[in-house]
Amino acid sequence: MAANKTLLMLPGDGIGPEVSAEVTKVIDWMDKRRAISFDIEQGLVGGAAYDAHGVAITDEVMDRAMNTDAVLFGAVGGPQYDNLGWDVRPEAGLLRLRKEMDLFANLRPAVTFDALLEASTLKPEVIRGLDILIVRELTAGVYFGEPRGMQEWQGQERCIDTQSYTKAEIERVAEVAFDLARKRGKKVTSVEKANVMKTGVFWRQTVTALHGAGGYADIELGHMYADNCAMQLVRNPNQFDVIVTDNLFGDLLSDCAAMLTGSLGMLPSASLGAVDGTGRRKALYEPVHGSAPDIAGEGKANPLAMLLSFAMALRYSFDLQEDADLVEQAVQDVLSEGKRTADIMGTGGEVLSTRQMGDAVCAALDRRAA
Ligand code: IPM
Ligand code: MG
Repeated sequence: MAANKTLLMLPGDGIGPEVSAEVTKVIDWMDKRRAISFDIEQGLVGGAAYDAHGVAITDEVMDRAMNTDAVLFGAVGGPQYDNLGWDVRPEAGLLRLRKEMDLFANLRPAVTFDALLEASTLKPEVIRGLDILIVRELTAGVYFGEPRGMQEWQGQERCIDTQSYTKAEIERVAEVAFDLARKRGKKVTSVEKANVMKTGVFWRQTVTALHGAGGYADIELGHMYADNCAMQLVRNPNQFDVIVTDNLFGDLLSDCAAMLTGSLGMLPSASLGAVDGTGRRKALYEPVHGSAPDIAGEGKANPLAMLLSFAMALRYSFDLQEDADLVEQAVQDVLSEGKRTADIMGTGGEVLSTRQMGDAVCAALDRRAA
């Protein structure tokens, strides 16, 4: 039996706690049935942390996040927190985790499940067989650039955000994209706005130079403007394999890619840091969907993105490819049986609650492992 791994669960707000409860069932299943077992700790983040402590994340939880093997993050935010101060708003907790853990590479796969082709607003022939990976830079760009904020300018108020990238920040995320492409379709599309932004020109030059000098001759590299990429994603998404882009464009394009698959409720993500001296990399896994306050507490939330995020943790933090495959296959089994949460009903099927969906995945795991 392998030594226990540690997981820090930060369920957060809205539907975060509901979907997190379902992932706990799958973690328990792994504990009982597979070679790995986990010590799980729980913590508060977002509005939940604000309600208890007046901050979006405490130093104590931050410290635990820095020292755990993987963070499983639910979602943050809700209308009751909309008017909080900038530094304590729920999103600040997530942004602090990303920045202080230095989680610069955000992996957002968009994969269609055959059983869900009808749930997408796009035509089945456009999205069939889709398997793309967006690698979003997550710790720099306009999300963190300085200066930012209000100023007095020519006798009036103005507000500034700054887009900024160092060469090293571009290179390290592009390296992740090239390395991942090597294990997939061997094609990287680098996305920016080099036609209007200086950082875009620099991004393109830096990625091109790395491709030439970094031993990536086996990977096909293409470049695309971000606006065109948004259009191409809905026109012909299958042309892409790996997309690498900055923080803001990655935020927009990953929501767009998510909808190709039928529901935001299906999309997992991994946010990874650099590998440290002990061979471990800091990592946070979270569903791409937000806190969905409109359905929170109603048992309607789709827990599959959260379960698939845990599968990504098995893959990227614990190198347990078989176990990750097992979770992903169990999700496919459940969908093939016609089981659906409300968000992926499409043309029909059996509506399950959040809990029933978690149980159905565990039952599918039992069958797969029998
Ligand atoms: C995301 C979200 C976040 C972002 C918000 C909640 C700060 O939209 O993870 O895509 O903008 O990065
Ligand atoms: Mg987003």
